[in-house]
Amino acid sequence: MDLGSLDLAGLAEVAADCTRCPLSDGRTTVVFGTGDPDADLMLVGEGPGAEEDRQGLPFVGRSGKLLDELLAQEVGLDRSAVYIANVVKCRPPENRDPLPEEIAACRPYLQRQVELVAPRVLVTLGNFATKVLLNTKEGITRVRGRRYAWGDGVVLVPTYHPAALLRGGSERVAETRADLVRARLSLMEARET
Ligand code: URA
Repeated sequence: MDLGSLDLAGLAEVAADCTRCPLSDGRTTVVFGTGDPDADLMLVGEGPGAEEDRQGLPFVGRSGKLLDELLAQEVGLDRSAVYIANVVKCRPPENRDPLPEEIAACRPYLQRQVELVAPRVLVTLGNFATKVLLNTKEGITRVRGRRYAWGDGVVLVPTYHPAALLRGGSERVAETRADLVRARLSLMEARET
């Protein structure tokens, strides 16, 4: 199926029945993505956890609560004003890392989502989203802390995954806050053009 001709609703419908990789065997729900389809800011995480798999929505567990807080405090936006998706749409068993072939199988969905939402600013949360969207092998610690030109006038801001903040202490939280301020600045600049 050529996903390139589908709108977001059509894409979500196709994803809901997806069997492109074995993650489909263990999922309860496909976690396609949520938020404002016309958002200027799009956030991309790694993959659903247990709560997301149950509810069918991204970032509704503990790390999502923290993400909502940071988004409100540093960007001034509620999650309903942004679009949130993941690199893989089905929960990896025991929350293990997604495998390269799972990421590759799911990539056309993410690619089409980014095309359709057409954000001005993309924030990648953690290693997986950053490696996929920035097309790099470098880890998040090395690449975060700056903004990247990404395609036609889009700015990409890599930052830590909120789950890493729950484990990681105040320095990482402060760095993430600084990254989100970078995203806010980019949004303001995009709105001036
Ligand atoms: N972690 C992610 O990367 N995505 C979610 O949706 C939830 C937790």
